[in-house]
Amino acid sequence: MIAERKSLLGIRELEPEEILEILDQAEPFKEIQSRSIKKVPTLRGVTVANLFFENSTRTRSSFELAEKRLSADVLNFSVPTSSVTKGESLRDTAQNIEAMNVDMIVMRHHNEGACHFLDRQVQARVINAGDGQHEHPTQALLDASTLREKLGRIEGIRVVILGDITHSRVARSNVFLLTKLGAKVTVCGPPTMLPPEIEKLGVERATDVRHALKNADAVNVLRIQFERQSEPLIPSIREYVSYFGITMDKLAELPGGMIILHPGPMNRGTEIAHDVAEAHSGTILRQVTNGVAVRMAVLYLLSGGGSLN
Ligand code: CP
Repeated sequence: MIAERKSLLGIRELEPEEILEILDQAEPFKEIQSRSIKKVPTLRGVTVANLFFENSTRTRSSFELAEKRLSADVLNFSVPTSSVTKGESLRDTAQNIEAMNVDMIVMRHHNEGACHFLDRQVQARVINAGDGQHEHPTQALLDASTLREKLGRIEGIRVVILGDITHSRVARSNVFLLTKLGAKVTVCGPPTMLPPEIEKLGVERATDVRHALKNADAVNVLRIQFERQSEPLIPSIREYVSYFGITMDKLAELPGGMIILHPGPMNRGTEIAHDVAEAHSGTILRQVTNGVAVRMAVLYLLSGGGSLN
């Protein structure tokens, strides 16, 4: 059970039942979000600090909304205006924040394992909002919540994760989650963007996107993470678009009805064509809506549950 855990640091360590517990708990929170008053007093008296050491649009605002809709007190810690810029360590920063009696810390950090380090330093519960190339657990949970909404189940569905797999924490968390719940996962991209021995995680590896998508129920389209690449991994963007970009031409060759997910931020014209992004914006924005409900579920379960009203 999630309530027995101190923190949520990754999907890898979760049992399938715990993943389903979060997905199931997100459902009543989806309903609460459709009310005119989208707020419940569940986390009244609980203080949550959001520490984002790396840029974010969706995750940061989604956690903040989730916390506020649960009536938590929210501290948004701003790295550029903090003493981090004067050389303060992560440990000192976190311990000072905790000394203000913070109960939970949501952290995004550019270093893999930073949230595991933080978790060992503080009594507060820690939620990983993305650590380097390692994991982005709540993104995988919101992706799964959206897939389950669209397809009715996760077990047995066929999902292609397409793009820069090596540098993607979204890909890793999705691989762990989907394989734990019995989906058939193919990772697809240029050979230079596929980690060696990725098959050991229980997925298939593909470099032919048309073939990979032929029997897929869904494709999760990832951005090329240029900022994490130490050397060029593709000859040109134009060549990437031609081979791996999701375009209307490629979709026209498929049976139809395939679900297209994108975690954002999107680079239209690169991994996904503008017209495809527009045509599938309902699903892509539904991911964002579900993100708030999933994060409400994580905060609620980690804080021990209790009355929703
Ligand atoms: N999907 C995601 O993590 O987006 P942000 O970087 O905007 O938070």
